[in-house]
Amino acid sequence: MCGIVGYIGSRDAYPILNEGLIALEYRGYDSSGIALVDKGKMTIYKTKGKVNNLKTLVDKKNAKGTIGIAHTRWATHGVPSNVNAHPHTDCKNRIALVHNGIIENYTILKEQLKKEGVTFKSETDTEVLAQLVGKYYKGDLVEAVLAALDIVEGTYGIAVVAADNPDILVGARRGSPLVVGLGDDDKEFYLASDASAIVRHTKRVIYLKDNNLVVLTRDSHQIMDLDKKILSHEVHHIDFDASTLAKGGFDHFMLKEIFEQPETVKNAMRGRLIVEDGTARLDGLNLVMQELRQINRIIFAACGTSWHAALVGEYMIEEIAGVSVEVEYASEFRYRNPIIDSQTLVFVISQSGETADTLAALREAQRRGATVLGICNMVGSSIARESHGGVYLHAGPEIGVASTKAFTSQITVLALLTLLLGRMRRISHSDGVTIAKALEDIPDQIKKILKQNDSIKEIAKKYSRHDNFMYLGRSFNFPVALEGALKLKEISYIHAEGYAAAEMKHGPIALIDKDMPSVVIALKDSIYDKVISNIQEVKARGGKIIAIANEGDREIKKHAHHVIYIPKTIDMLSPLLSVIPLQLLAYHIAAQRGCEIDQPRNLAKSVTVE
Ligand code: AGP
Repeated sequence: MCGIVGYIGSRDAYPILNEGLIALEYRGYDSSGIALVDKGKMTIYKTKGKVNNLKTLVDKKNAKGTIGIAHTRWATHGVPSNVNAHPHTDCKNRIALVHNGIIENYTILKEQLKKEGVTFKSETDTEVLAQLVGKYYKGDLVEAVLAALDIVEGTYGIAVVAADNPDILVGARRGSPLVVGLGDDDKEFYLASDASAIVRHTKRVIYLKDNNLVVLTRDSHQIMDLDKKILSHEVHHIDFDASTLAKGGFDHFMLKEIFEQPETVKNAMRGRLIVEDGTARLDGLNLVMQELRQINRIIFAACGTSWHAALVGEYMIEEIAGVSVEVEYASEFRYRNPIIDSQTLVFVISQSGETADTLAALREAQRRGATVLGICNMVGSSIARESHGGVYLHAGPEIGVASTKAFTSQITVLALLTLLLGRMRRISHSDGVTIAKALEDIPDQIKKILKQNDSIKEIAKKYSRHDNFMYLGRSFNFPVALEGALKLKEISYIHAEGYAAAEMKHGPIALIDKDMPSVVIALKDSIYDKVISNIQEVKARGGKIIAIANEGDREIKKHAHHVIYIPKTIDMLSPLLSVIPLQLLAYHIAAQRGCEIDQPRNLAKSVTVE
């Protein structure tokens, strides 16, 4: 997804901006660019491909300027190309602008501007905004930006500079995150779409709210609304540093994050799991116990991996707490006519807290009077701020585009919620204690699975040339089958289908042959025998089986070509363990194929467009 960095101060802007762009690479992008202002002159460098290409380009020049803006673009309007890369300028090259989001009325505005004699260079919606600012610019950049924003529809996070005004950097946001960094002695300032771009320089930040505009000079910062009313603001302290973002000795962030899971799962339950009472406390929900007791329906809205976690949550809450749950794709929910009454509680689940569809679902639910709670990882994210309350994952920044540790942390939080709701309703103290103790054991059990990394890599080597995979699971592990398939396809570009094992015979079984291996989660639970029958159906068609089975299961070897053993836990928590080998398998298959694991093609870490 697109990323923004801006700097104004007394130091050379280029190294700071370049470093910021590198920090934003994890978000996914296809081109990048920088605008620097020096002595009344604006210089723009932009190029398709990696930030390193941009560096090669800029290093050949004498890039000067103590004010500048930079961008990584993820194409939405117009192909990835040098011309479509940001910054965009007005036709007089006085204004440079970078933009995250989408200008929805850009076609009409572009036609109007063309009639007025403006010539466009790119196919982007962003250039329309740059041209508008240029049109209104009469020496006052703030006025020009406000006038342009007044007529655009859609979403934006922007940073703007003017060639003849080297002492002012303007930013604004509506629906696309923007954070201001306060530098040394408040004599230099940063602007970024994501704090990780500036955390090396400052830990003091201000998160802009929608319809905020920020004016940064070399010794001041001012936040206002779009009517120029000055707003007060809170300065937050970022609690992660640059070293947290490094790969920590692993080849890829994804692998590092898979290996962090014993710790991140522990962090998700720290201070929340009350083993002796067999329950959990989730203070951030901001709901009094009475309210929680009264709800009789929960809606989960989420996308991708977070949606898979929500499905696990549905199985857990319905089974244990007896509360009816519906899981919705956030992208569908926002345009449906969902039924929400006073006893319905809506949860949105999002690692980034910035996913546009999930944010829109949150707003739609709020519009309908629902209490909306967020389960998020990113502190201070839009979803975290806009929901009525919620639970943080505390998983630390997840850099790999393929979500891994966020998934297990989400399930951990959902297990805590299940315990809390269950103990208010129908589970006994001793059953609660059994669940709580099982949850407490999970981090060590994950550690045990991670020790099999090498043997999973060997299996991956055998199968890395296959072009189609089937993933099968049932009950609590049906969503894990979906997640395993998603992991494989997003990082290795292999076609993979995830199915509820018994559903396979209703169509997808037609795909099975010797070239389509099946990864089957076959745990020793109440439906073990049924899953074994599903395995037989695959084998009868020549399909190879990689089984995820419980330690001590002697029978499974007879049915599967390869077995990855995991420790036994209670059924509802088994996804926390069964997903680990699937993450590793996907990782090693992708590594064997030489794929760009942390930034797979066509994907972005945080999807902030519709
Ligand atoms: C997962 O590996 C994905 N890359 C993707 O499906 C992701 O989970 C989805 O876009 C939702 O993101 P969020 O949790 O940040 O809202």
